[in-house]
Parts: sequence; C-alpha cells; structure tokens
Amino acid sequence: MDKKIINILAIESSCDETAASVVRNGREVLSNVISSQIEIHKKYGGVVPEVASRKHIENISSVVKEAMEEAKISVDDIDAIAVTYGPGLVGALLIGINYAKSLSYAWNKPLIGVNHIEGHLSANYIEDKSLEPPFMCLVVSGGHTHLVYVEDYGKYEVMGRTRDDAAGEAYDKIARALNLGYPGGPKVDILAKEGNKDAIHFPRVKLDEETLDFSFSGLKSAVLNYINQTTQKGGKIVEADVAASFQEAVIDVLVEKVIKAARLKGCSKIALAGGVASNSRLREVLGKKCENSNFLLYRPSPILCTDNAAMIGSCAYFKYNNEEFSDFSLNASPNLEIACS
Ligand code: KG4
Ligand code: ZN
Repeated sequence: MDKKIINILAIESSCDETAASVVRNGREVLSNVISSQIEIHKKYGGVVPEVASRKHIENISSVVKEAMEEAKISVDDIDAIAVTYGPGLVGALLIGINYAKSLSYAWNKPLIGVNHIEGHLSANYIEDKSLEPPFMCLVVSGGHTHLVYVEDYGKYEVMGRTRDDAAGEAYDKIARALNLGYPGGPKVDILAKEGNKDAIHFPRVKLDEETLDFSFSGLKSAVLNYINQTTQKGGKIVEADVAASFQEAVIDVLVEKVIKAARLKGCSKIALAGGVASNSRLREVLGKKCENSNFLLYRPSPILCTDNAAMIGSCAYFKYNNEEFSDFSLNASPNLEIACS
C-alpha cells in the first residue's frame, strides 16, 4: 500500500453499545461515538439480547453519521469499513455487519471483519502510539478472560483463558447478589474502596497451579455461600467488605498469571484490555507489581477499555496493511476465537 494516510470507519455492535469511530493509521482517533444501552438493560439486571438488537437498529445510522461528522471527514477520504463480526450476541452483531456491508457496497470501499477480542487488545496501540509487539496482554471483559501473547501485529498465542465465568461476569453476578445494580463491575470497584479487602478470605482458584487458565465460578459460589450463610445465621453483611474481599481474590489471580505468562515468554511489556481493565484496583496492583518487577505496563484509558469502535478501527488498520479484507459473505460468528499462528 503506497498511500500514507489510511482512514478507517469502524463499527461495533457486539453487545449493548452501538459505536462508530474514524481512526487514522491505526493510532489516531478522529471520532469515537458510543451510544450505550445501559439505562435500558438496567431494569432487567443484564443485557437482553433481543432488546439490544432492536436498539442497535434504531441507533446505528445516527451513530455512524455522528462519527463521520465529528471526524470532519468526507466519504472520499475513507479507505475501508471495519466491523466486529464476533464474538458477541448474534442478533447484535448482525446489525453492525449488515450496516457495514451496505456502506462498503454503496461507497465502494473494502470491508474488514474484526475479532472483538483483537479489537480490545488493539486499544493499547491508540493509548500509547509507540507501543509495538511483542507484549503480553490480559484481556478481561464481561465475556472473556484471555492471556494473549501478541507476537506481532495480528499474530497471537492464547496462553490462558477462563474455563468457566469471565472476570467481568463474576463482578456482575456478585454485584447482583449485593443489590448494587447493573453493570456491576464499576459499582463493585467503587464500593470496594470503602471496604476491608482482608475481611473475608475467598479462594484464589488456580493460583498455585501451573496452568495459565482461570476459573471464577468457584469464587462466585464462595461469595454467594458466604452471603447466604451469614444471612441465615442472622449476621450482618458488610457489603463493602464483601466487595473488597471478592475483588482482591480476582485481582490476585489475574496479576499473578499475567506476570507469570510474561516471564515465560521473556517479554518486558504487559498490556491490559477489556472492560475490567478499567478497574481501579487492578490498575493499581498490577501497576505496582510491574514497577517492582521491571515490566512496562500499558493501561488504556477507561473509555478505550469498555466496548468502543476506535479499538476496532485500530485493529482493522493492521489488517488493511496485510490486505486482509472480507467479502460480502461475512457473517456473525458469536463464538469466534482468536486465531493463533
Ligand atoms: O469489554 P466490555 O465493555 O464488554 C465485553 O466485551 O464484555 O466489558 C464489560 C464488563 C462488564 O462485566 C463490566 O461489569 C466490567 O466489564 N467492568 C468492570 C469495570 N468497568 C466495567 N469491572 C470491574 N471494574 C470496573 N471498573
Ligand atoms: Zn468487549
């Protein structure tokens, strides 16, 4: 490719955010529009897939229009249309994919399908314009907990993953048990600041095992049992202590395993990605650990950690350079994995 400036219009609709963004050369965000459905799903205590799809179809045109206007760019200057095609909710993904295909056809621009998890880790390229692979990335979100070794742009090795619940899912479930509302992660994060992290000892599952995989369902059950048993005995639940103690059990394991994985690969850079990466305690504990152990830590700003389309536009740029385009048969892939090389 001989053109120096590549502008990509990216669309993300895998869960409950309808998002569009224009990204230049994979690192510079010209616009980043996110229409969140949190207020709608709140009343159900979680994302209702069909409601999510219906909201995406209502919002997508105005979100894309706003992203183009904010970027102050004309259609002629757009080089490709990128879209998340999985993993995620099938109905939600299909709205973004179909919209992206229509634009690609009408504007005669190449189409680039992007893996949502690859998108999350690419947020680091936006936050730190000098970051280059190799690095170890901990992707922690509502649907995924992955330890990904990024050997080169688009070249990955999944070193570990959760065997059951994702870290964000555990946060959301504990928040529900404590009646904190949805989405739970940010609420637990805030409440935990007022609690004692050593008040209750919850299990650190798989911490002592060789594996780099995670498991959070046992921890979730331990917290729910603690709440039930204490209530049955007429004891008082100190919500802030439960939140802080639960959070510490999650973070201990996440931090230990990402450091271990980085050492195994001999890489000096560690990056965070995904909604849970915006957790203040995780950022603090991993920050200190990396400082003491001489790792460089990359932490995208919270707005780039949770779902957004800028991260999809960044990831798509490196695919554009490799001429990895999609055709009009691109379909939603709800359980899409990261392709390992
Ligand atoms: O990446 P994301 O926006 O969507 C998925 O791809 O899943 O992540 C959403 C998840 C939710 O489970 C939410 O509770 C969690 O990230 N989350 C947090 C925080 N902010 C969002 N978890 C812990 N602490 C936070 N501050
Ligand atoms: Zn996500």
